[in-house]
Amino acid sequence: MNYSYKDLGLVNTAEMFRKAYEGGYTVPAFNFISIEQLNAIMDAVIEKNSPVILLASPNLHRQLGHEMIARIVQSGVDRITHEGLKIPVALHLDHGMTREQCVLAVENGFSSIMIDGSAKPFEENIALTKEVSEYAHGLDVTVEAELGILSGEEEGGSAGAGEAPCESKYTDPLRAEEFIRRSGCDSLAVSVGTCHGLVKMKPGPDGKLPGLRFDILEHIRENCPGFPLVLHGASNIAPEYVEMINEHGGHIEQTAGIPDDQVRLAAATNVCKVNIATDGWICALAHTRRILDENPGAIDSRVFTLKTRPLLKELYLHKIDIMGSENKA
Ligand code: 13P
Ligand code: ZN
Repeated sequence: MNYSYKDLGLVNTAEMFRKAYEGGYTVPAFNFISIEQLNAIMDAVIEKNSPVILLASPNLHRQLGHEMIARIVQSGVDRITHEGLKIPVALHLDHGMTREQCVLAVENGFSSIMIDGSAKPFEENIALTKEVSEYAHGLDVTVEAELGILSGEEEGGSAGAGEAPCESKYTDPLRAEEFIRRSGCDSLAVSVGTCHGLVKMKPGPDGKLPGLRFDILEHIRENCPGFPLVLHGASNIAPEYVEMINEHGGHIEQTAGIPDDQVRLAAATNVCKVNIATDGWICALAHTRRILDENPGAIDSRVFTLKTRPLLKELYLHKIDIMGSENKA
């Protein structure tokens, strides 16, 4: 064990979810892939006094290394303490695919992990989730599992024009109850119409976008009262960012993301965690492209890192508003 999350000032998600469920709001879970992004997230949660879950995918370990992730997250938490605030922060492994990835994260300061066995057959998903949950619970780490297929590129990919829209398989509420009971997981990511990455909702034959399947959320709530659910793939894909990327040399498709009002409605249900990754990436990238175009003589990256931080902060402030987590720290 290199770091215990408790020594880094982090918390697991148990208490956060209990309060969110009872309070009818959701805890924002923001992916970060740069120090500027982490700083912007902390700026926003400090201003809003909101709990937060920091999402790091296994790829971030390859990018920064475990040591650095633990240290920069710890410095973010120290900032909260130095300002005299008490804001719960969890560091969560997003889409851990193997037991080994989960163990590595826990041994390096993660307070919460996701074991994503959703592509496996039902019984194998249960067995893997159970094994990981038994290990994690021994160290007071919380475990998120996934049931149902929520497609799309978790790591962005190159969703260019003409790419096939997301194909999902909705979570079966009856199976969800059995899965939760037998696997021992603490929260469950469900497939109710959201999708990872840039390409999300596909208009129906009438040209209208389908709404999220609130009936599935409700059915699970009836079967598993008090149990927290997780919404992945909830980015909005604002035209503003897509247009800016394309105006400054990029070539990505404008697609329909998840409307804010759908996330707002989900936040008031048994959904206690909503994941946002792509919106943060395209916001940062759009402004970076614009700023570089406006500053052709720039010779170091601070020309855009310093300017994108407050713009990212605005995005996260807005997300906290729609999730209803302001002043819930
Ligand atoms: P988005 O791609 O919609 O931001 O989803 C993020 C996510 O679910 C990360 O696990
Ligand atoms: Zn996800």
